[in-house]
Amino acid sequence: MHYTNAPPPFDGDAKDQRSWTRWAAEWLYEARKVCKLGAPVCMFIDWRQLPAATDALQWAGWIWRGTAVWDKGNSRPQKGRFRQQAEYIVWGSNGDMPINRPVPCLPGVFKYGNPQNRIHLTEKPLQLMQDIVKITEPGGHILDPFAGSGTTVLAAVLEGYSATGVEVTDAYAKLARDRIDAAVGSMA
Ligand SMILES: C[S@@+](CC[C@H](N)C(=O)[O-])C[C@H]1O[C@@H](n2cnc3c(N)ncnc32)[C@H](O)[C@@H]1O
Repeated sequence: MHYTNAPPPFDGDAKDQRSWTRWAAEWLYEARKVCKLGAPVCMFIDWRQLPAATDALQWAGWIWRGTAVWDKGNSRPQKGRFRQQAEYIVWGSNGDMPINRPVPCLPGVFKYGNPQNRIHLTEKPLQLMQDIVKITEPGGHILDPFAGSGTTVLAAVLEGYSATGVEVTDAYAKLARDRIDAAVGSMA
């Protein structure tokens, strides 16, 4: 039971780095198996887990092609230190990624503040995800194995893709479904 107005807690955020890397490599491997040859992959990660993320991606058989930046604009100031105001988007492809795919040039830095009135503790800005999904070819199907509040799935649908989201925490699965149904309903 969850009795406060704060977003509900969620599963899967308590592994040390070795366990996290092994776990990430396994799900990235399973995800790659259901993706088309040439499909892009994007994984959000903070600075601390960045090396582990690029290892896991490659151990799972994806080709690592770069790291884009989500600049959140603000974060806790720390005297004598750089602000940790960015998250990183490790991206790659399932094998070859031909240069003539019908996808425009995309930026390498995305500047969006955290969403107001978040329904998930780590909810991404919707416009950020609308920008990111454009790495997918038109008509593509997008998989988010950690759907949370459904931002990626909603962004995909708003940009004309089909999508599948997987979410282990029941409260978030329901919040995501309701959010997407409401948005898609209001488009009809
Ligand atoms: C970082 S959050 C995703 C937030 C999402 N991008 C959004 O904008 O709301 C990760 C989510 O993955 C879920 N999760 C953790 N382990 C999972 C698993 N094994 N299978 C499916 N979902 C899982 C958590 O419950 C959490 O909601």
